[in-house]
Amino acid sequence: MIKVNASTTQHACRIRDLKKEYVLKSETVRALRGVTFDVPAGDYVAIMGPSGSGKSTLLNMLGCLDQPSSGELFLGEDNVAQMTDDELADVRSRRIGFVFQSYNLIQQLTVVENIQVPLFYQGRLGPKEQARCLELAQMVGLKDRLSHRPTQLSGGQQQRVAIARSLVNDPYFILADEPTGNLDSRTTEEILQLFQRLNDEGRTIILVTHEDEVSKRAKRVVRLKDGLVQWDRTNTEEVRAQAAKYAIDNMPVEV
Ligand SMILES: Nc1ncnc2c1ncn2[C@@H]1O[C@H](COP(=O)(O)OP(=O)(O)OP(=O)(O)O)[C@@H](O)[C@H]1O
Ligand SMILES: [Mg+2]
Repeated sequence: MIKVNASTTQHACRIRDLKKEYVLKSETVRALRGVTFDVPAGDYVAIMGPSGSGKSTLLNMLGCLDQPSSGELFLGEDNVAQMTDDELADVRSRRIGFVFQSYNLIQQLTVVENIQVPLFYQGRLGPKEQARCLELAQMVGLKDRLSHRPTQLSGGQQQRVAIARSLVNDPYFILADEPTGNLDSRTTEEILQLFQRLNDEGRTIILVTHEDEVSKRAKRVVRLKDGLVQWDRTNTEEVRAQAAKYAIDNMPVEV
């Protein structure tokens, strides 16, 4: 079993009046106009909302890929909004696992090499780390695909490689931008079960989705509209269990 770093803080993140403006030649786009909410450690949040409502912008701020224009963003006790680029890069590599809709795997590398990529770039790929990458490949069910390249894998398998890769640094939380957007219902289910297991282990998950069936599996749904939180609701255990049962009962028969 892969252990999650014990955290002394109760919040994975605290977001306060977060704003992001993109200044273009002819106009200023106000992508986030004052977003405020907290994410307790161990939460599982689905971010929803129409196209252009600011979901990816928010996820990119949480993932330290970009800086907010104003407001506060605490990851644990660190106010990310006031960090230098080097400090941000450090937080990003130590504490955040990112999963993208398009998997973002390197086509020339095998499954296990793709999982190792973040450690390779950090110059920390020793025997212990290599063993951990094998353990992660096994955890996502790809033990017998270690030497395959991405083109030799299904979409769901590729996304599982990306999830294993996101876990190599034992991240504080996992951020996923439409991780099932390219997947059919069966492979979506595989990925959702994997996220559920990671959350059961204590990892905090924030994912962006357009699909109600995906958001019902999270503990909580935050809906954005025009760069603001429109509503923020908890999913009851009953709603979550029903959504999981529905997905399994309606799984297409394998031919
Ligand atoms: N780098 C950028 N430069 C300028 N404007 C941007 C940039 N990134 C995003 N925007 C604008 O910010 C707003 C929010 O974009 P964002 O990508 O966060 O939306 P989204 O909710 O993720 O949408 P989708 O569901 O289509 O992925 C949009 O109006 C978008 O055009
Ligand atoms: Mg988006």
